[in-house]
Amino acid sequence: MKKSKDLYISPSYSFQDNAPVYLFTNENVADEIRVLGDIYGGRVLSVGASGDHAFAAYMAGAAHVDTFDINSLQQAVTDLKTTLIHHVSYENFMDFFFDTKNFFNPRILMQRDIKIPNTVKVLLGEYERRGNAVFKYEAGQNAAYLTNHIPYLVNKHAYMQLRSVLPKQIGFTHCDMRDIQSPLSKGPGMFSDNKYDVILLSNIYDYVVPSENMISQTDNMKFFYDEFLLPMSRRLLTRNGGRIAFRYLWGSSPSAWSNYIQWVENEMLGNCARTIRKHSVHVRSFPSNQKGCAWDSVLFLKQR
Ligand SMILES: C[S@@+](CC[C@H](N)C(=O)[O-])C[C@H]1O[C@@H](n2cnc3c(N)ncnc32)[C@H](O)[C@@H]1O
Repeated sequence: MKKSKDLYISPSYSFQDNAPVYLFTNENVADEIRVLGDIYGGRVLSVGASGDHAFAAYMAGAAHVDTFDINSLQQAVTDLKTTLIHHVSYENFMDFFFDTKNFFNPRILMQRDIKIPNTVKVLLGEYERRGNAVFKYEAGQNAAYLTNHIPYLVNKHAYMQLRSVLPKQIGFTHCDMRDIQSPLSKGPGMFSDNKYDVILLSNIYDYVVPSENMISQTDNMKFFYDEFLLPMSRRLLTRNGGRIAFRYLWGSSPSAWSNYIQWVENEMLGNCARTIRKHSVHVRSFPSNQKGCAWDSVLFLKQR
């Protein structure tokens, strides 16, 4: 039986280049970012995924967002949505993704003199070739649900608000998160060390450290902290307040993960972060956007 968080994910799913793509997030990205604290004017590094993390970061006031993803087709999804948001009406955008008769209808994209990015042409070609197998789920089937939960889809006003803060293109680097050695672009000059104030890793944790390879959740988290978070924070994160949202969790209640969260707060902080006094570790819960879940949580660290 599928886990609740996997409700929309195709069984053929795997993270690699050209794997089936997410068209929309399955996280409550708005609240996830809100609980990290103020990001206004900040520089953000985010997993690319459907682009919704980057969109939410811009809506929360980020000055600059760089994205990365192991699957280059996710760039196409972000470029596609960015192009549509800038050039077509809210109604056309909704038709493109949620009206089964118009789903991925190229005429909506070609209705005016819209310059279609090459990445998007590749994705359209993949759709022609692979059909719905190119998506992790068929958005059209989940219209009512998604439109109530993705902030910029809720109504025309929110959509226009996103348009007003969204750059014409979002920076994307095709790479594995573990290979990012230095900031992916030079951002606006106001950020002296050119590092990131916020890094959003979604639930990549679940796949980078699959639990069956490890003895326990504790070992997993220690491994992840030592091997990824610590080096990443040194290379990429702003000192004094830089934050990494390093694990997104779906749950049925605020206490669903309480033992684990308690361990993260006490043990992880004690064994990893406190010894070097580099990071504080935090957890915040908020309502879930995911069917079958009620409360989600995000684990994040803050650099001192
Ligand atoms: C972890 S998935 C899950 C979907 C996510 N919960 C959302 O709301 O979009 C998000 C993205 O992470 C990417 N990804 C997974 N492992 C990665 C890695 N090691 N490095 C870079 N990107 C990765 C996938 O290709 C996918 O587009």
